[in-house]
Amino acid sequence: MTEKGNMYEKMNIQWFPGHMTKAQRMIEENLKMVDAVCELLDARIPRSSRNPDIDRLAGDKPRLIILNRTDLADPEITAGWKKFYEGQGFAVLETDAKSGRGVNGFAPAVRRLLADKLRDYESKGQVGRTLRVMILGIPNVGKSTFINKVAGRKAAIAGDRPGVTRGKQWINIDSGLDLLDTPGILWPRFDSQEVGEMLAITNAIKADVLDKETLGANFMLRLRDMYPKAIEERYKFTPDPDMNGFELLEQAAKKRGFLISRGEYDIERMANTLLGEYHEGKLGRLSLEVPNV
Ligand code: G4P
Repeated sequence: MTEKGNMYEKMNIQWFPGHMTKAQRMIEENLKMVDAVCELLDARIPRSSRNPDIDRLAGDKPRLIILNRTDLADPEITAGWKKFYEGQGFAVLETDAKSGRGVNGFAPAVRRLLADKLRDYESKGQVGRTLRVMILGIPNVGKSTFINKVAGRKAAIAGDRPGVTRGKQWINIDSGLDLLDTPGILWPRFDSQEVGEMLAITNAIKADVLDKETLGANFMLRLRDMYPKAIEERYKFTPDPDMNGFELLEQAAKKRGFLISRGEYDIERMANTLLGEYHEGKLGRLSLEVPNV
């Protein structure tokens, strides 16, 4: 591959540290009221959709990681991530909160995670004491969808409790579990261009604030490296290792017939189409990050 064919374009991505400070405070304030911390990640980009500050904020609370959006992720890579986080001592559950697949495993996973605590409660005569779990995740990762699916029709808002910041809510689910919904929006840490791109490609942050063409071009390069077959199948050409991302986009635009004028193709439209089709899962189940082995 030539240098040109392997060149990612630079993008300008901003982030807002003020939001993080507020979230940290809210998490810290609410932590003492829960038995465990559950973190939702996008299974396609577990690394980029995970805020590393959680490790510090959650202290020594037992932890559960939910790999969500598994319907859009590469199943083998998701299994790899599950193993990876289990190796780090987390309980891990794979879910597709949209269809509800996997969410039934949530309550049993929490009970397994807190088995010692449950035994402790029982030995003190507190049989059937409700377990409380804080749900965290970056915006748009699927927290509301997940909570609604877990709670189902039996969902009941437990109402105000002392010490809980207004607007936050406890959700009682029938199996002796209370969920604390979003004590502070956890902003992603897009402290590198790569993380920012991953978040924009997967719609965690609005791609509108970024240059869509550049985002699409860089995404094409990632696809060429990780899933060239997906390009072949969807856009009907074999990606050339010497082309840059814009040239690959142009190639796809040609195949789609996105012509602006004679010989000039609409790359911006192609970038939008590519990102939209990935979002809808039309390119297949494609993960963008693999665990370190
Ligand atoms: P949040 O509370 O963490 O901010 O996220 P929320 O539940 O609102 O979910 C954001 C979007 O992601 C919703 O789509 C939701 O349907 C979708 N979603 C959540 N979990 C899954 C999943 O496991 N698989 C898939 N494919 N989608 C999931 P939306 O608002 O309708 O927008 P769109 O993203 O579907 O366009």
